Amino acid sequence: MRKVTVIGSGNVGATVANVLAHKDLVNEIVLLDIQGDMAKGKALDMWQQAPVDYYSTRITGTDDYAKTADSDIVVITAGIPRKPGMSRDDLISTNANIVSSVTAQIMKYSPNPIIIVVSNPLDVMTYAAWKTSGLPSSRVFGMAGILDTARYRAFLAEALNVSPKDIQAVLMGGHGDTMVPLPRYTNVSGIPVTELIDEASLDAIVERTKVGGGELVKLMGTSAWYAPGAAAAQMVESILKNENRIYPCCALLNGEYNLHGVFVGVPVKLGANGIEQLIELKLNEAEIALLNDSADQVRQVMEVYDGLSK
Ligand code: NAI
Ligand code: 2OP
Repeated sequence: MRKVTVIGSGNVGATVANVLAHKDLVNEIVLLDIQGDMAKGKALDMWQQAPVDYYSTRITGTDDYAKTADSDIVVITAGIPRKPGMSRDDLISTNANIVSSVTAQIMKYSPNPIIIVVSNPLDVMTYAAWKTSGLPSSRVFGMAGILDTARYRAFLAEALNVSPKDIQAVLMGGHGDTMVPLPRYTNVSGIPVTELIDEASLDAIVERTKVGGGELVKLMGTSAWYAPGAAAAQMVESILKNENRIYPCCALLNGEYNLHGVFVGVPVKLGANGIEQLIELKLNEAEIALLNDSADQVRQVMEVYDGLSK
């Protein structure tokens, strides 16, 4: 019996549940929201989609944490999204309270879940969930890198007129404007991207990626959900199938990359136990400087969170 709970049935949470249901690898998905009727309604709608799209996953909606009991994985999307003019960090005090209280409730009913955090500011909300849960850091991590890398890959696919399927890339750092796309680790069906695109165009794509979330907020008045929801579902899939896929995820560093006690995006192997391995790339000096910069930014917001929770 495999059970996944998604907390928050808004744009991202509902998409995570819907994409996961279509993968048909979970027996039960519980969609929980403080707006209980909205969660119930969306879950019922998705259950009614099952006969059309051929999946067996049972989806239920609730506002009662007892119904989340014994979840294998919990995806936290509860919180307020970004509005135009807001940075991800502007969300901290509201979302920190929400993520901490949600995590405490989850832990009452599921003794040893894997928690995937999506709420923003992502790196610090992952820290909040990890601190509140008392779980090992291999079981609490955040979704951002798959999304940011997907944006980078999509922009590259468009510029090169190739399928996004053929673009492999890795991106590190915090989920903010200091994220670190790594052109040296980007290839198109094995061909280094630098052989296919000029430096100025690649730089422009890197810069567009860094503000990719903001581009969508400007267009829609709220933040994105299709790619974020699919990205979180892909993490769930790698864990439940014990696939050991390597994705950039927000993880606690304990000396890796010479960084200590900070949550940032790094490539990890995701399997049945959550983070099975944290992969250390041989970064060059310029890349290390960018990563350190990004980690410093995250650390500053972690300190704001620590101040709030005193
Ligand atoms: P939304 O407003 O559509 O949905 C949020 C849901 O959370 C609402 O239904 C709300 O009722 C619920 N909620 C609020 N407090 C709650 C609580 N205490 N318990 C349970 N549910 C609660 O927002 P959306 O677009 O789904 O975004 C959710 C979060 O994900 C935001 O913080 C957003 O910034 C973040 N996000 C992160 C991304 C990433 O890459 N990590 C990408 C996209 C969004
Ligand atoms: C995004 O990157 C706002 O974090 C959200 O779309």
